[in-house]
Amino acid sequence: MRPDPLANLGKCQTLMDFPADFIRFLTSAARVVVLTGAGVSQESGLRTFRDAQTGLWAQYKPEDLASPEAFARDPKLVWDWYAWRREAIKGVRPNPGHYALVEMEKRIPQFTLITQNVDGLHRFAGNQNVLELHGNIQRVRCAECRTFTETWGDDTEAVPTCLVCGGMLRPDVVWFGEALPRVELEAAVNASRTAHVYFSIGTSGVVQPAASLAYAARNKGSVVVEINAEPTPLTPKVDFAFHGKSGEILPQLVRAAWRN
Ligand code: APR
Repeated sequence: MRPDPLANLGKCQTLMDFPADFIRFLTSAARVVVLTGAGVSQESGLRTFRDAQTGLWAQYKPEDLASPEAFARDPKLVWDWYAWRREAIKGVRPNPGHYALVEMEKRIPQFTLITQNVDGLHRFAGNQNVLELHGNIQRVRCAECRTFTETWGDDTEAVPTCLVCGGMLRPDVVWFGEALPRVELEAAVNASRTAHVYFSIGTSGVVQPAASLAYAARNKGSVVVEINAEPTPLTPKVDFAFHGKSGEILPQLVRAAWRN
């Protein structure tokens, strides 16, 4: 049974006051694009990408583990880090911010959700048109022939290998220095360039090419909105900025726009 994303509204720390012209524009928009980052999953209990790692992994920076060079240097270390992260998100569930975006998608004729997150929580919450720019940690593929697999050996001493070609398995995520999936990126750019409203939510907006989508939207006349815990380099360029927790702001926005 999916919780009502607006049920916890009364307990919110930050009660937002949305400008009437913004609400009018959003509710009349035919094409809305949302870009999310790790901040949207923070209230589900997942650390943001640049939060400090904990435990065994505290000695590493994510950037030092999520790269082809790291995998070539020590494939087992990288495989174990992603196994730890898959284990860590097993019990994690979407938060009211995720469910509010599902509600938004139901009300917007052309809604595109672009995410940098690899946790799969947007699809889990029920969003349909999701572009996973950085892949999905739940998917595993061969580093050589790219064959996907859902099962692998449980030999804890070595990285599991592909049943088709014998190559090493790896998570189906985009590592630093790797190209983003072409189909998803092209769809994300095209959607951003034709959006009436573009949201940047829970992202520091520092990693390209995702960070440039807001500017592509802005240059084509979109109304650009930021929802983030703190200001980012994008903040001075947006039309509306709402700073606070996305798990609180988004349910309030959906109620202000469509549940009066
Ligand atoms: N609500 C809204 N925003 C939040 C919340 C919250 N509850 N908690 C944290 N934030 C904000 C932080 O203030 C920060 O600006 O979310 C942002 C998360 O930024 P990063 O940790 O940089 O994560 P992200 O922007 O998703 O990183 C983008 O970079 O390293 C690569 O591939 C990696 O997908 C990642 C990409």
